[in-house]
Amino acid sequence: MEVLQAIDRNKLPKHIAVIMDGNGRWAKERGEDRVYGHHEGVLSVREMVNTCAELGIPYLTLYAFSTENWNRPKEEVNALMELLVNTIRKEVDELKQNNVRMHVIGDFESLPEICQKELNEAKEITAMNTGLNLILALSYSSQWEITEAARKIAMDAVAGKIKPEDINDGLFHQYLNTAAFPDPELMIRTSGEHRISNFLLYQLAYAELYFSPVHWPAFRKQHLYEALLNYQQRERRFGKTSEQIQTNTPQHV
Ligand code: FPP
Repeated sequence: MEVLQAIDRNKLPKHIAVIMDGNGRWAKERGEDRVYGHHEGVLSVREMVNTCAELGIPYLTLYAFSTENWNRPKEEVNALMELLVNTIRKEVDELKQNNVRMHVIGDFESLPEICQKELNEAKEITAMNTGLNLILALSYSSQWEITEAARKIAMDAVAGKIKPEDINDGLFHQYLNTAAFPDPELMIRTSGEHRISNFLLYQLAYAELYFSPVHWPAFRKQHLYEALLNYQQRERRFGKTSEQIQTNTPQHV
């Protein structure tokens, strides 16, 4: 409670991105199967979504399945896909009621058809919502996304739609999966790993990075409040000096 009171509601990040790590370790510590950890992780997803909505944070991106996760044992991949479908099916009405709009980034076509169908329905059902934008990164990796962007830019250049001299940071952003969203200002990774692991490499250029030792299934709203307070205690300089920051507002967020 005390931590929540210390948070300045006017200085919240507009976009939080999360690497939800440690489901397997959390389960193993309890003598359970890894998949049990993923199931419990969904409860943390729920709490994270509700808390961000309550705080009025407009964008939340969750790294739910990476390109590299396809290399996990087949049973675990299937269990994760099934969990995804069942969770979306179960939660979509509440997302709609809570004014949450769902988006997906990643290699959508590589997902099983049933997942694509469920995700498309959820996107459609929540399309008119104006509160929290919940962005699920699925079959996503940043190197894949950047390579795809480069390929599409090259194709548009060859087709004469853009000129090579028009290619700049702003144009490149438009070719990323995240073109419609502002860049994250805070990236949280749970479970004590200090890596970005192919997640939003381009978009995290100016994000504050927060690493929590807590495994994802144990990550509760109190932990999010602590991350937010820690974020607010940092000085965001965007490459400028402290003196400039005290007199200027950053241009690129
Ligand atoms: C990382 O823990 C977690 C994942 C690969 C999957 C995260 C997915 C969920 C929490 C369910 C998502 C559901 C929805 C609806 C978004 P890990 O398995 O890598 O843990 P470990 O590092 O301890 O092995």
